[in-house]
Amino acid sequence: MRVTLAPMKTKVVPLEAGFDGALLLLQQGKPVAVPTETVYGLAADATDGAAISRIYEAKGRPSFNPLIVHVHSLEMAQSIAVFDTQALALAEKFWPGALTLVLPLKPNHNIHPLALAGLETVAVRMPVGALRELVNKLGRPLAAPSANRSGQLSPTSAAAVAESLDGKIGLVLDGGPTPIGVESTIVGKTDGQLTLLRAGGIAALQIEAVVGFPLNRVQNSGVVAPGMLASHYAPNAKIRPNAVTVEKGEALLAFGYNAVSGEHGSVLNLSPKGDLAEAAQNLFGYLRALDAENPTCIAVATIPDHGLGEAINDRILRAAAPRD
Ligand code: TXA
Ligand code: MG
Repeated sequence: MRVTLAPMKTKVVPLEAGFDGALLLLQQGKPVAVPTETVYGLAADATDGAAISRIYEAKGRPSFNPLIVHVHSLEMAQSIAVFDTQALALAEKFWPGALTLVLPLKPNHNIHPLALAGLETVAVRMPVGALRELVNKLGRPLAAPSANRSGQLSPTSAAAVAESLDGKIGLVLDGGPTPIGVESTIVGKTDGQLTLLRAGGIAALQIEAVVGFPLNRVQNSGVVAPGMLASHYAPNAKIRPNAVTVEKGEALLAFGYNAVSGEHGSVLNLSPKGDLAEAAQNLFGYLRALDAENPTCIAVATIPDHGLGEAINDRILRAAAPRD
């Protein structure tokens, strides 16, 4: 089904003041942008096909790319997906939180097929904060991709949502900057093995500590998770990772005390003290801010690949990937 949205005025309303209005819109099958602990999501009733189609329409997202289904409780998650012992252990340890589990669908689940893009698995997550509360009040799960036009940077502030989806959605709930700043970690089972499908807000090492062995890693080829197109999270400017020098006309995204030599135009440092959690928080906002100055290119300093660095480097490499 295809629903064409007439341009509308996008309102940004503080979380408490806008909560009831958001619930009403969701009940009417309209998408609403809502903060989570990772990034802002564009939420709609996961059981309602027309509501889901409005998410795809607003984002300009290809409909073969499935959505994460957000739940309020483990019980709700278990009515949608089949949890084995490992999945249960991970949910108990990390939920609510920045972990998405890709699991087999439970027979008689109530998720609309449009949210699943025809797969036999479902991505489920119990988020922290307003989105979880809305699921609770609605009594139904909410599908929510990041609240940006498809292929753009994920929004970590209400202003970033409003800029990306202006005129495409009616309401953004403003809960301030998102504390984690990168999307959830996605873990699934492929050929009986636990696989890291997307590095994210919970470091792989923390997950490995719970399951007791290393996670399989996928090449980011787009095979397992349809949304993992090589070029993603892209600003307008070109991105040059692992830069040791800056050229004239380039902006610099620095990290820690790493010295990058050359002509420094605009510089933002993700974390002068070299803290990866702080760097994750700042990543999308700083990329967006540097991009707004229209540099020829954004040079990005080397960022360590451990802990949250894996998610940060993944996003930088995607932003740097060749585009169509
Ligand atoms: O932190 C987050 O995960 C945010 C907040 C709003 O929860 N959401 C988010 O959603 O980042 P989105 O749609 O931007 O990214 C979800 C990714 C997509 O790459 C999609 O292809 C993948 O999850 N995905 C969804 N269902 C899947 C499935 N059944 N199997 C494999 N990948 C799946
Ligand atoms: Mg996204």
